[in-house]
Amino acid sequence: MGELWTEKYRPKEFSELFGQENVVSRIEAFVKDRNMPHLMFTGSAGTGKSSLSIILVKKLYGDKWRENYLELNASDERGIDVVREKIKSFARTRSLDGLFKIIFLDEADALTKEAQQALRRTMEMFTQTCRFILSCNYSSKILEPIQSRCAVFRFKKIDKVAIIKIMQNIAKNEGLTMSDDSMELLYDVSGGDCRRLINMMQAAAVTDKNITTDLVYQIAKSSKPQDLKAMMDSALDGNFIASRNLLLDLMLEKSLSGTDIIKGIMEMIPNLKIDDKLKVRMIEKCGEAEFRLVEGSDEYVQMEALIASFILAGMKSKQQV
Ligand SMILES: Nc1ncnc2c1ncn2[C@@H]1O[C@H](COP(=O)(O)OP(=O)(O)O)[C@@H](O)[C@H]1O
Ligand SMILES: [Mg+2]
Repeated sequence: MGELWTEKYRPKEFSELFGQENVVSRIEAFVKDRNMPHLMFTGSAGTGKSSLSIILVKKLYGDKWRENYLELNASDERGIDVVREKIKSFARTRSLDGLFKIIFLDEADALTKEAQQALRRTMEMFTQTCRFILSCNYSSKILEPIQSRCAVFRFKKIDKVAIIKIMQNIAKNEGLTMSDDSMELLYDVSGGDCRRLINMMQAAAVTDKNITTDLVYQIAKSSKPQDLKAMMDSALDGNFIASRNLLLDLMLEKSLSGTDIIKGIMEMIPNLKIDDKLKVRMIEKCGEAEFRLVEGSDEYVQMEALIASFILAGMKSKQQV
């Protein structure tokens, strides 16, 4: 497949990092001062945390950035001791530029409390020579004493307009055709995770340079809202057989998993034109079914039972009207 597009299209300049203007301007100020505290980057996956830290070190050290940058993953299965050893040997020597070295620790919130205590001591030990950038999804999972030693930066989900610009740029460069509908759909199924989005785009392009909505669905293994909607409409109309056939079609022909379908239904419920009580009951049923699937119970049985429960909920709400 050649080069990964997430690397090929990784932002290389501050100006290329979309949707994080507030964060970027504060980081640019550190480069200007040639000084910075420990940093904490928090936010969901694929919002630019790793990308920004690489831009930062490149701006600080130019060609010599690799000697001054250590990237580690906290959820390294060999444990915090390995992480600490790596930090120690990297941090032992000063940067030749007389500046600090930078240690980027990805998924810092995967560390246990004990491991975080160890990390905190390590950070203190090397404050003279190093700055840490801790990257995490949830800042609340990081011990308070660590948080208070860091300047915290919150990365927002990249908004739709910016995501579409990113897609258009890649499409142009790779000679792809994508309709507005395909782009919107890809944005929806990626959940705002830019890495996921670019990976799906690359996967789709392998099949066809003309990326249609059907292709996006195929790649995302997500379902067509029309099919799901038809299934639910039939259920709410009390037509079990029709609804069940549509369900089987989604599962057997479109090879969607039970959890995929439940996710799709959950996203759709708030927009259905039914009364709120019924919506609540349906969401509750989805939750129960999802739980049972995770516990390992039979997908077909659970999904059919879910449809049956929609039918009952639909009938009840009609009686009450
Ligand atoms: N804000 C952004 N602007 C442009 N591209 C982005 C942005 N955030 C992520 N990307 C794209 O997604 C890929 C993964 O981003 P990354 O920085 O690793 O995210 P994170 O570390 O937050 O999970 C990047 O290589 C880039 O192609
Ligand atoms: Mg990352």
